[in-house]
Amino acid sequence: MSGHGRVKVGIIGSQFAADIHADSFRMMPDEAEVVAIASPTPGNAEKLAKKHNIPRFFTDYREMLSEKDIEMVTITAPNDLHAQMTVDIANAGRHVVCEKPLCMTLEEADLMIETCKKKGVLLMYAEELFFAPKYVKAKEMADQGAFGKVYMVKQSEKHFGPHAPWFWDVERSGGGVFMDMGCHGIAFCYWFLGRPKIKTVYCHMNTYVHGDQTKGEDNSICILEFENGAIGVVEDSWARRGGMSDSIEIYGEGGVSYADLLMGNALPTYSEYGYGYAVEKAPTTKGWTYPVFEELWNYGFPQELRHFARCVRGKDEPQTTGEDGRLVQEVLYAGYHSAAIGRKVELPFQPEGVKKPIDLWLKGKS
Ligand SMILES: NC(=O)c1ccc[n+]([C@@H]2O[C@H](COP(=O)([O-])OP(=O)(O)OC[C@H]3O[C@@H](n4cnc5c(N)ncnc54)[C@H](O)[C@@H]3O)[C@@H](O)[C@H]2O)c1
Repeated sequence: MSGHGRVKVGIIGSQFAADIHADSFRMMPDEAEVVAIASPTPGNAEKLAKKHNIPRFFTDYREMLSEKDIEMVTITAPNDLHAQMTVDIANAGRHVVCEKPLCMTLEEADLMIETCKKKGVLLMYAEELFFAPKYVKAKEMADQGAFGKVYMVKQSEKHFGPHAPWFWDVERSGGGVFMDMGCHGIAFCYWFLGRPKIKTVYCHMNTYVHGDQTKGEDNSICILEFENGAIGVVEDSWARRGGMSDSIEIYGEGGVSYADLLMGNALPTYSEYGYGYAVEKAPTTKGWTYPVFEELWNYGFPQELRHFARCVRGKDEPQTTGEDGRLVQEVLYAGYHSAAIGRKVELPFQPEGVKKPIDLWLKGKS
């Protein structure tokens, strides 16, 4: 490995998140360049490679890992594959960027962290909300004392359900909307408050509209109690009509702030005829819609991935790590268990032998 110049990146996966990664690296090309892409369905890696001018493509990611120049590999594959891929990437001596949620189980999280440590590579947990400019601004103000003592932080993400079949299959995803999007809110509240210890987790969840296609919950509310007395409220839905929403609310004894990542950055628009694209998961572009601009930038993806490349060069310290992903995983366990028993659950909560987080809820339901 050269250790200088732009970091050479390989991407595993070729669909939704892979496209975001490839686009993001192109938006901020000063620190990294994508040189290869790997995805098993014949033709898919090639298609994405052509779209983004990426020179090499593979159907087997292990083959990509034998390319000597690749220094950092980003994982944008289904959740059940994150752990094995991380171990393979680390064993090949490359730095790892793993999409959220980190993996399926705490045992996997430990293996991922240990293997990366042993091999001397970074394990970076892709939580882009730490880089979303509006949310970063809210945190900056909080850290400057704008709101006095912050007592409640809320993060919410809602839409009508994911695009690919594996999300609905809890054997592959590990859970429903709480696992898929609650992981963002848990990480966000923890990060926003300056990483205080989480004392308890309380969760309510149910499957309200998608019971015909998943065992997973499609609506969840989670309350985190932190050691410093603040609470985090994490609200997520796959049952919400009308496109995607992502927002935060910050409450302190001395002030308040709200940020709406999508509608708050959109152009309220009426169109009789429709147009090309409004926003992720928008069901229509006719009638009243809220098209966003600079969607990836507003979410923080290019800034996040550039930061990871800088970490590989030793220019930055990782702001979101495998340990963060592991803590989120523990809260997911606690949240599913809480929803099953109808009471709050104290941390540490690290039961062994759980196959996937949602089992802790499904077991309690039957
Ligand atoms: N940070 C975010 O906001 C965000 C957004 C979307 C997805 N994600 C995460 O990214 C991951 C992928 O989600 P997605 O929406 O891109 O899913 P997707 O279904 O659109 O794409 C998954 C990709 O993984 C590939 N894949 C499957 N098996 C593979 C294998 N054995 N080897 C290599 N590639 C394989 C598929 O071929 C496909 O290209 C998930 O963990 C998801 O939670 C994160």
